[in-house]
Amino acid sequence: MNPVMATSGLQTGASTGAAQDEYERFCAGIERLCGVALAHYRQGQMERRLRTFAARSGFHDLDSYLEALKKDPSALESFQDRMTINVSELFRNPERFKELERDVIPRLASASSGRFKAWSAGCSYGAEAYTVAILLSEAREVSSFQIDATDIDKGVLQRAVEGRFSQQDLRNVSPDRLRRWFGDQDDDGGRAADRSLASSIRFGELNLLSDRYPQGCDLILCRNVVIYFKDDAKDLIYRRFFEALRPGGLLFVGSTERVANAAEMGWEKAGTFFYGKPES
Ligand SMILES: C[S@@+](CC[C@H](N)C(=O)[O-])C[C@H]1O[C@@H](n2cnc3c(N)ncnc32)[C@H](O)[C@@H]1O
Repeated sequence: MNPVMATSGLQTGASTGAAQDEYERFCAGIERLCGVALAHYRQGQMERRLRTFAARSGFHDLDSYLEALKKDPSALESFQDRMTINVSELFRNPERFKELERDVIPRLASASSGRFKAWSAGCSYGAEAYTVAILLSEAREVSSFQIDATDIDKGVLQRAVEGRFSQQDLRNVSPDRLRRWFGDQDDDGGRAADRSLASSIRFGELNLLSDRYPQGCDLILCRNVVIYFKDDAKDLIYRRFFEALRPGGLLFVGSTERVANAAEMGWEKAGTFFYGKPES
């Protein structure tokens, strides 16, 4: 992990013929340019977005867009920033975080050896990691903790380090927690998170499809990230999460997600959105 101190809108599925060849050339070219393997993402949605970016940037096809990206590093960087979908908020799906707070964290903490280790994989601008930092700071059962928060998108990681959240990001945060963990409201209704939260979070760049994973985690949160991936890429990631957890550790997935072939990979169901690695 490298530490860091959204048309044409007409296509609904995979292209055919010349358009398909063009799409594949574009994906291969981007992988060569910046290492992002677009071929692992579901084509329908990804292709719509790519063609939209290209059109908005003034290009009629993906070939000419790729040529322009090769020549202009800042255009390539802004392409990478926009290619990933960064939507998030604090306490996203609040009832799930209630379950995490009430049942999951106390259970994991009682079996954790020493420092509690959590990983927010695909953390976007940090809302999920700051949410976990609040819950672990408040948990009586947790004496010390470390959170790794990683994303493929450098631009959002910079925002994550800064820890400023909009009014929309904060809508599920209780008034008590707003007072305790956030600064005064700015003119737009946003607030900065207390620096003590950021000090327990290590933000870093990590591509879930190719980079090394943190190991020995008590809890991995990977929510609303792999929904954009093809099934074989999802399988690979869930197998690697299994290895990255300590025995007894848990994986927390998004509210529309499930691990296909979970039992075959060794996962035990530990709640609707939680999967556990057996103790032994
Ligand atoms: C919709 S956000 C999810 C944020 C947060 N987990 C949540 O549920 O609110 C999806 C994030 O996944 C990241 N992402 C996409 N592909 C990735 C990859 N291959 N490796 C790591 N992160 C990736 C995107 O950059 C984006 O920030």
